[in-house]
Amino acid sequence: MKIMVINGPNLNMLGIREPDLYGRQDYPALVSLVEETCRQNGIEVEIYQSNHEGDIVDKIQAAYGTADGIIINPAAYTHTSIAILDALKAVQLPAVEVHISDISRREPFRQISYAGMACKKTFMGLGLQGYRKAIEWLQAYLNEQKK
Ligand code: DQA
Repeated sequence: MKIMVINGPNLNMLGIREPDLYGRQDYPALVSLVEETCRQNGIEVEIYQSNHEGDIVDKIQAAYGTADGIIINPAAYTHTSIAILDALKAVQLPAVEVHISDISRREPFRQISYAGMACKKTFMGLGLQGYRKAIEWLQAYLNEQKK
């Protein structure tokens, strides 16, 4: 089983950006958590971060035919990007949305998630542990589909 984990803009600034919202752990700590969770569960993983919408679209497209599923935190593009929604729909891979903060309790402009419309499940407000939950959920979902 291979999954692609995609992170959007400013997530490379974890640990520095708004620590009260996003915590004090940095992006390398997130990469380690994802890699370690996947290693423990026998999952092959590619983890990617970009600040550029088109690059994220390219990465989603690159998952087609190479990955079994996608975990995505599109960050601010969550609330603006129909291109990312369309890319997720295009590749038709099971996708799980993650947000470190609880976007449902934040500003009105964060209440819409376009990417989420193409995702099977969302984990939010769990800090970096949301990624672990998302990986485990996606693995269980993919195993169920194989039966
Ligand atoms: C975020 C929430 C978004 O609203 C915000 O723009 C981000 C991070 C989160 O992980 O909580 O950059 O996706």
